[in-house]
Amino acid sequence: MAMTSAFRCRTLFWLIILFFLVFFVLTFSPLLRENNVIIPFVSSFNSTTTPFNLTKSNCTSLPQVSYFDELLTSSMYQRRHKANLTKGKTSLDTIEEGLAKARAAILEAIQFKKSHVEMMKRFKQWSYKEGEHPLIHFGPANDIYGIKGQFIDEIEREESPFRAKHPDEAHTFFLPFSVANVVRYVYMPITRKQDYHRDRLQRVVTDYISVVADKYPYWNRSNGNLDPPNLGQAPKSRPILAFFAGRVHRPVRPILLDHWKDKDDEVQVYEKLPKGLNYTKFMGQSKFCLCPSGFEVASPRIVEAIYAGCVPVLISDNYTLLFSDVLDWSKFSVQIPVDKIPEIKTILQAIPFDKYLKMQKRVYRVRRHFVLNRSSKPFDVIHMVLHSKMSNLERIEADLGRAREAIRKAVHEKNQTSNYKENDDVIIPKGSVYRNAQSFHQSYVEMEKRLKVWVYREGEHPLVHTGPLNDIYAIEGQFIDEMESGKSRFMARHPDEAHLFLIPISVANIVNTLYKPLVTYNRDQLQRVVMDYIGVIAEKYPHWNRSRGADHFLVSCHDWAPDISQVNPKLYRNFIRVLCNANISEGFKPQRDVSIPEINIPYGKFGPTPQNTSLDKRSILAFFAGGSHGHIRKILLEHWKDKDNEVQVHEYLKNKKDYFKLMGKAKFCLCPSGYEVASARVVTAISVGCVPVLISDDYVLPFSDVLDWSQFSVYIPSKKIPEIKTILRGISPSRYLELQKSVMEVHRHFTIHRPAQPYDMLHMVLHSVWLRRLDVSLLS
Ligand SMILES: *[C@@H]1O[C@H](CO)[C@@H](O)[C@H](O)[C@H]1NC(C)=O
Ligand SMILES: *[C@@H]1O[C@H](CO)[C@@H](O)[C@H](O)[C@H]1NC(C)=O
Ligand SMILES: *[C@@H]1O[C@H](CO)[C@@H](O)[C@H](O)[C@H]1NC(C)=O
Ligand SMILES: *[C@@H]1O[C@H](CO)[C@@H](O)[C@H](O)[C@H]1NC(C)=O
Ligand SMILES: *[C@@H]1O[C@H](CO)[C@@H](O)[C@H](O)[C@H]1NC(C)=O
Ligand SMILES: *[C@@H]1O[C@H](CO)[C@@H](O)[C@H](O)[C@H]1NC(C)=O
Ligand SMILES: *[C@@H]1O[C@H](CO)[C@@H](O)[C@H](O)[C@H]1NC(C)=O
Ligand SMILES: *[C@@H]1O[C@H](CO)[C@@H](O)[C@H](O)[C@H]1NC(C)=O
Ligand SMILES: *[C@@H]1O[C@H](CO)[C@@H](O)[C@H](O)[C@H]1NC(C)=O
Ligand SMILES: *[C@@H]1O[C@H](CO)[C@@H](O)[C@H](O)[C@H]1NC(C)=O
Ligand SMILES: *[C@@H]1O[C@H](CO)[C@@H](O)[C@H](O)[C@H]1NC(C)=O
Ligand SMILES: *[C@@H]1O[C@H](CO)[C@@H](O)[C@H](O)[C@H]1NC(C)=O
Repeated sequence: MAMTSAFRCRTLFWLIILFFLVFFVLTFSPLLRENNVIIPFVSSFNSTTTPFNLTKSNCTSLPQVSYFDELLTSSMYQRRHKANLTKGKTSLDTIEEGLAKARAAILEAIQFKKSHVEMMKRFKQWSYKEGEHPLIHFGPANDIYGIKGQFIDEIEREESPFRAKHPDEAHTFFLPFSVANVVRYVYMPITRKQDYHRDRLQRVVTDYISVVADKYPYWNRSNGNLDPPNLGQAPKSRPILAFFAGRVHRPVRPILLDHWKDKDDEVQVYEKLPKGLNYTKFMGQSKFCLCPSGFEVASPRIVEAIYAGCVPVLISDNYTLLFSDVLDWSKFSVQIPVDKIPEIKTILQAIPFDKYLKMQKRVYRVRRHFVLNRSSKPFDVIHMVLHSKMSNLERIEADLGRAREAIRKAVHEKNQTSNYKENDDVIIPKGSVYRNAQSFHQSYVEMEKRLKVWVYREGEHPLVHTGPLNDIYAIEGQFIDEMESGKSRFMARHPDEAHLFLIPISVANIVNTLYKPLVTYNRDQLQRVVMDYIGVIAEKYPHWNRSRGADHFLVSCHDWAPDISQVNPKLYRNFIRVLCNANISEGFKPQRDVSIPEINIPYGKFGPTPQNTSLDKRSILAFFAGGSHGHIRKILLEHWKDKDNEVQVHEYLKNKKDYFKLMGKAKFCLCPSGYEVASARVVTAISVGCVPVLISDDYVLPFSDVLDWSQFSVYIPSKKIPEIKTILRGISPSRYLELQKSVMEVHRHFTIHRPAQPYDMLHMVLHSVWLRRLDVSLLS
């Protein structure tokens, strides 16, 4: 009896526990879920066992791109899918809605004077319209940054026909066209007033309609299959090298016809196809189809070419290609600038047959993106247009995706560096000081090409937008100043284009200002300032909430900086802390945080004065001079202070001025941690060509994602301090030579320039943050 009741009791107890567990999971699991997708990218960079083997498996958490497949990132697709679910609308509804909005917006834009951005947006939306038509245009709508405002500038000029006084008038070219595209296509470049005459536009419209009516075999053909039937001959039985037939439309075609019309059997260029000959058939018999821009609708030619399995040759100078944010045109088309028209034959003949085969195969595969089906199958034109109108975040993530892809590729193409032409202006990382020189180089190049950082404007001096420019915390102020100087190429013009957001707070300045006189070490005030700041920007802008801080960072060299996040670990969970004080035991997370060097900058300079003492003059084996700060130095001084001629350890020098001279005379410079793990001595040692000996525990070395510190420094854990002499003496002269040479090589990365220069310290700091950003995808 007692047993049973005890049993019941226990059962009840477990049931209650179970109930609470289920309750907890059901209630709180959404809170526990992390929004951001973490891509272990940096870790692969750093992994010591397989450095830089960024295998596919390492990136599975990034939605895999189905190559042309590498064309569409499935994350975008998923997102759309999700939107569909949540809104309970068919995608057609969404499109129709978009169209209605676009129409209304255009009308409004014509009636009222609107700002650049508004106009741009309107015309962007207008390109939805094109989805209905097989208009494979080089659309301005496609890339807001691509056309650099050129189009809008034109549009807003007084004499622009699109500042129509009467909307009715505008309606005439409203319908099935993208006015924006037509203008761009026909009226660019606008150089004279008479260029604005409408007749050209009207001609385009007429042309266009006839084109749509006669020329579009696939208009009626698409039968719901993703892959339309193969048209044209097999690649091997295409006798014509290149083909074109079309009217003389300026500016490109006259040049083309001039050079090639009726002149060559292999490059067959016609102004008018002789009667009885079949245009489509010709395309199917040609390897390449010339698609010069003309003032009629040139783009159907590209689609036709693609349908006929003919590799398009795009002859134009001035526009971005449609869908180019998801399609890599270089993989299935040839682009020839206008001034190379005479060389068409040479250029095309120079393409090896196997490369041609690959392109041709891709042409077939890419057709699905140009299939038109009103009921909107995935990958068809309508979808593509929708895709190309990505949200800012999608655009940014797509951009980062391309960067990752390029870096990954560089990792696999080990000898890629040999393809670069050496050039004095271009720095190419090489050699063993890098964990993987190619991937670092590629990553740096991608960063230069893409990275934009937005610096929040909120806040005032002296706590925000400024920092110490000298002394040991200098890197803090130097970095903020560089990003806010207006001279950095990495500065975003608008938060929407930013990959990263800098919180321009200086911890050193807060401590210097709010804690003066220093009566308390309580971090409350510091923590409150930073929290308040984040509160303000999270309230005002969407960016913090969007990523929960994963694309935000703060740079500080101050000892107290790691403590800012203690007060609210949840708030700072994803936040990138860029710190000198990279002590793992204090919560520094190498995956998320960035370790930067401490550098002591004297007034009027940008760092320690470099020295280049020849090796035979380096008479001291090891050197240190400094106060007994922190437990490591205590041990060091205890063991070595004034005890050995070869290992010269001093607490204070009799003459302070000897400090740099002695460092320059030493083979090795001891760099023990002080009150904090980082030491400005490391940069000083590197500057004077002295091999740094790092004596620290739990210290994550600066730039260690890309630099292999074992190639230019010696690491001695604190418990081996008594063995310093033995260890250093055990390093052979040839090994020392290598180490010292490498020190000179990495010096560039530990030098500050203002404005910053490629691969210098400030850009290395930025690159470290860039790598952290590559680790995270904000589209889940
Ligand atoms: C990278 O992976 C390949 C095989 O996938 C392996 O052969 C190679 O050793 C790896 N490289 C490194 C540096 O580990
Ligand atoms: C990355 O890939 C390597 C090699 O395939 C594997 O050993 C490692 O565990 C992977 N890392 C993660 C985080 O998946
Ligand atoms: C969108 O929703 C409709 C109906 O709700 C469904 O038929 C369609 O397949 C969905 N589209 C996508 C891309 O999931
Ligand atoms: C396509 O279909 C429409 C109506 O179904 C027809 O009027 C038109 O002629 C067709 N076009 C072609 C090229 O067959
Ligand atoms: C588009 O696809 C749907 C379903 O896949 C099909 O029923 C329809 O006939 C197609 N439309 C055209 C114009 O081919
Ligand atoms: C032209 O050639 C294509 C493909 O060879 C064929 O489908 C089409 O019927 C031909 N058109 C004429 C008018 O002969
Ligand atoms: C490209 O633009 C330049 C300058 O705007 C112009 O001179 C040139 O003719 C244009 N080329 C083409 C092919 O439109
Ligand atoms: C190195 O590059 C050359 C051409 O630049 C190429 O032919 C060769 O196959 C590459 N070698 C390896 C191992 O990738
Ligand atoms: C971000 O989230 C916070 C807390 O949930 C909220 O107070 C704030 O309004 C949000 N910011 C924006 C711009 O929506
Ligand atoms: C790099 O790897 C080493 C050893 O695996 C580790 O101690 C260090 O924390 C890592 N650093 C980063 C930035 O991941
Ligand atoms: C250092 O001096 C040596 C000769 O003493 C010279 O060959 C070398 O180029 C110098 N290095 C630098 C970085 O100035
Ligand atoms: C690193 O952090 C641990 C834990 O707070 C601390 O005990 C240690 O002294 C720190 N190291 C240095 C050099 O400050």
